[in-house]
Amino acid sequence: MPKRSKVSIIGAGHVGGATAHWLAAKDIADIVLLDIPQSGDMPRGKALDLMQSGPIEGFSTRVNGTNDYADTAGSDIVVITAGIPRKPGMSRDDLLTTNAMIVEQVSKSVVEYSPDTFLIVVSNPLDAMVYAAWKASGLPTHKVMGQAGVLDTARFRTFISMELGVSMQDISTVLLGGHGDAMIPLPRYTTVGGIPVTQLIEPTRLEEIVQRARDGGAEIVKLLQSGSAFEAPASATVQMVEAILLDKKRLLPCAVYCDKEYDVGGYFVGVPAVLGADGVEKIVEVDLTPDEREAFAASVTGVKELVDLISAPATAVV
Ligand code: NAI
Ligand code: 2OP
Repeated sequence: MPKRSKVSIIGAGHVGGATAHWLAAKDIADIVLLDIPQSGDMPRGKALDLMQSGPIEGFSTRVNGTNDYADTAGSDIVVITAGIPRKPGMSRDDLLTTNAMIVEQVSKSVVEYSPDTFLIVVSNPLDAMVYAAWKASGLPTHKVMGQAGVLDTARFRTFISMELGVSMQDISTVLLGGHGDAMIPLPRYTTVGGIPVTQLIEPTRLEEIVQRARDGGAEIVKLLQSGSAFEAPASATVQMVEAILLDKKRLLPCAVYCDKEYDVGGYFVGVPAVLGADGVEKIVEVDLTPDEREAFAASVTGVKELVDLISAPATAVV
């Protein structure tokens, strides 16, 4: 008899809790929700509360809240949402040093108990955190990835849907680059029910929508007044989890390791990738115009600068 899959979520905060919620409702894996000992019984409380919606919603997912990595042993997938979120006025990059230390510690603890797991990183600044998790975990590149593009494209799709009065489901798009202000939504590869969006929205308006998608995270930070977005980020993460667990071969924009691909040279950045039972199974390279290529290169440079900062030896304090 096949056993139920096991997904552990490290960081039981807003994104971690919402990821557990969306995933529990899918009934495709049991869940472990872990947070630091200082959080006390909080993960147990969230887990129990969530499980008690099972009889109502009709799922059988077991959710275990804990502060002990031993409970994550044998996870098929581990999602890392541990870290500090953005406050109004902060960029994702402002979180760099604190979250790098957290993500490295978490990744090491995770592989101690789940040496064959897939890792999906959500903590920001995303692309640099995926790199940190990869290095600290020692896992092969096809097993480590970051969630950003599914969220960023979902935002772009939502804004196009609002503009045209067409279902969000019918909008399909591609996005490249890091999960930062230099991300690159690609209107040229965006369709609405198969029709190029460039035939439906005039260029100036389309550029405003592209910019709103780029600023999508900051817009929510400002509206919420404390913390950052969590529902859509969590839902996006679950789409990646599902693609791997159910071997769906979904073509999704994710932060994956690119070397020769797109001439990145060994960093994790957002590109279209096929996710299935082997994790990152393929990277799809799309044709880019010189302008798009330049924008992508600039975005990758931003990612490299952050990675260099966390890779540099600590400066001696005298
Ligand atoms: P939050 O503050 O609500 O939750 C973070 C949780 O991590 C807290 O419960 C905290 O106790 C826990 N934590 C801290 N250090 C830990 C450690 N060493 N081990 C285990 N748990 C630890 O923050 P929120 O809103 O859930 O955001 C989490 C992260 O996700 C942030 O870095 C945020 O910027 C990022 N994020 C990324 C998105 C993306 O698309 N990639 C979208 C939204 C948020
Ligand atoms: C977002 O895009 C903060 O990265 C987070 O909402």
